[in-house]
Amino acid sequence: MSEELIINNTATKAEKYKSLIPQIEALISGETDLIANLANISAALKEGMGFFWVGFYIVKEDELVLGPFQGPIACTRIRKGKGVCGTAWAEGKTIIVEDVDQFPGHIACSSDSKSEIVLLAFKNEQVALILDVDSDQLSDFDEVDQEWLEVLMRVVGKFI
Ligand code: SME
Repeated sequence: MSEELIINNTATKAEKYKSLIPQIEALISGETDLIANLANISAALKEGMGFFWVGFYIVKEDELVLGPFQGPIACTRIRKGKGVCGTAWAEGKTIIVEDVDQFPGHIACSSDSKSEIVLLAFKNEQVALILDVDSDQLSDFDEVDQEWLEVLMRVVGKFI
């Protein structure tokens, strides 16, 4: 495993994802421990994409429980249907929130968070993990983030 990520800070967002995701795949391919892999994925996304907050919530019975992340401290448990994460879980699909203050029931872990994208990884067709990315800018996520982060979550789904 290479010890450093190759990151081109002048690249477009799509180019950054295109370069980063294979590096993440290589990074986790030699390791079977889920927490170790989620920890490295969080770090790689933080470093490679410069996200404000990025991390995982793991489905445990009827709640999401905070997993590996990078950024300010976060709430530890989210019920199904609550907040953006719990809503994405309940609806079984990616959610992009342009302005978190406009999302009914948004859970504010940090008052600096302004927009958000939440994606799912599945095991046996059930949601097993959630990736949450927060920005301190409004409307920071779009279909480019959705397309590439969904590619990443399919990679994650292979080793859950
Ligand atoms: N905002 C999320 C909670 C998680 S934190 O942002 C890290 C939500 O509404 O589900």
